[in-house]
Amino acid sequence: MATDDWPIESDGSNTLVIFGASGDLTRRKLVPALCSLFCKGSLPENLGILGVARSDLNDQQYRAMLRDSLDEEIARPTPEQWADFSSRVHYLHGDITSSDDLLQVRSKLLDMETGDRATNRLYYLSLAPSLYQPAIAVLGETGMADDTEGWRRLVVEKPFGTDLASARSLNEIAHSVFREDQVFRIDHYLGKETVQNLLVFRFANAIFEPIWNRNYIDHVQITVAETLKIDERGEYYDQTGVLRDMFQNHLLQLLTLVAMEPPHAFEAEALRNEKVKVLSAIRRIHPEDVALHAIPGQYRTYRDEGGVAPESDTATYAAVRLYVDNWRWQGVPFYLRSGKALRSKSTEIIIQFRNPPHMLFPLDEDEDIPANTLAIFVQPDEGFHLEFQTKTPEAGLQMRKAELEFHYHEAFSGQAIPDAYERLLLDALNGDASLFTRADEIEQAWSIVDPIIAGFGRPDAPRPYYYSEGSWGPVEADRFMSTDGRAWLQGGRAR
Ligand code: BG6
Repeated sequence: MATDDWPIESDGSNTLVIFGASGDLTRRKLVPALCSLFCKGSLPENLGILGVARSDLNDQQYRAMLRDSLDEEIARPTPEQWADFSSRVHYLHGDITSSDDLLQVRSKLLDMETGDRATNRLYYLSLAPSLYQPAIAVLGETGMADDTEGWRRLVVEKPFGTDLASARSLNEIAHSVFREDQVFRIDHYLGKETVQNLLVFRFANAIFEPIWNRNYIDHVQITVAETLKIDERGEYYDQTGVLRDMFQNHLLQLLTLVAMEPPHAFEAEALRNEKVKVLSAIRRIHPEDVALHAIPGQYRTYRDEGGVAPESDTATYAAVRLYVDNWRWQGVPFYLRSGKALRSKSTEIIIQFRNPPHMLFPLDEDEDIPANTLAIFVQPDEGFHLEFQTKTPEAGLQMRKAELEFHYHEAFSGQAIPDAYERLLLDALNGDASLFTRADEIEQAWSIVDPIIAGFGRPDAPRPYYYSEGSWGPVEADRFMSTDGRAWLQGGRAR
């Protein structure tokens, strides 16, 4: 039996090793997600957790720190549950880039690993991205990737590289130590329930697929709006900007799920093959043409934020029009936009259908009936809205818009939507890579975003347009749409 086939339920030990264990992500997301899984009884019985970071703490201090920062929206353990859960958590202080320290981690793991069956290990890099390469190299040097005793898997957080070249070199180093099927690259959007439901919606219903193409769809809008500003992340964000932070990963992932062909099975390779086909079909934008296809924005007070250069031209907002050059989507624009400091937090996908080819009902001279829209709300208020026209009672042939709605919180009342990390951690432990990004997928995504970033950096490119906090972005983004004869839609409605 290949070691990768050893199931998580084996008599052996399963250990999750979190490198970067005292960091924000571990405290805010990973540990609360693990604790929530534990409280639901979904965590494997014999899972041990080892946190490794540079802070000098013992097990008790580390557990206390985790309890203090536990996000109760994700996990609300009783004191007994917490005591039980935290007794599985251990801590070791060490520097991931030092072989000596990693050898100590290895002997700590050998102490924790009991039983005479497989000793499975999931290594989670919750580190500053500059540490990914050295960390992977040291895992290799110290024999920690050797999977003769049990499976070894590596989880890498985003950002995976800062451009195509760096993503390639990170993939190369990862592949020099681990096989591709051992590498789990996280995009937490793929762990969101509604994102997965998009696949169910498209492929478990026969009524949408026949109209899911250029013959019936006028265009698609994907919005990921945040009210948050950049908070304490000024230095990181100023080097990153919205295209690297949100487009290369989350927005392009949403696009692939909307545009992909049905895979033959809900299985990692089949799914990811289809997603890669979409990404490779996206028409690349030449840097010199970027002004025709993309609008950069910056919120007005961005340059006053800590860690941001006083003359910074980093975009905190972007709107981009992309085309997928294949049979299904030829000529259908996909409008993507995302920004910080916008009016409300909402992630939604709008499918705007075509107008009826011939209107037989009388309309006033300046009257125009809106075409059908399907709005898919990823967050908050997860659900779907389908808008269509109805006749107003007793009013001749006047029409009015009506909506069919589905809201998760109504349909599954009392059932909280789990945090994305719960699903992703479980899948990684179970070796299911369906919701993780493959090496070629990451590289394709960078090759789409890199030329746009290069275009924004050209001396003749427009500087980011300012927008007020609490607005919907720069007015230029509205003009960009109206030039195409369209408008941004909010929840399926023009604002
Ligand atoms: C992260 C970005 O990947 O996603 C953040 O780095 C952003 O800048 C966050 O705020 C948004 O995630 P969510 O789940 O709140 O939409």
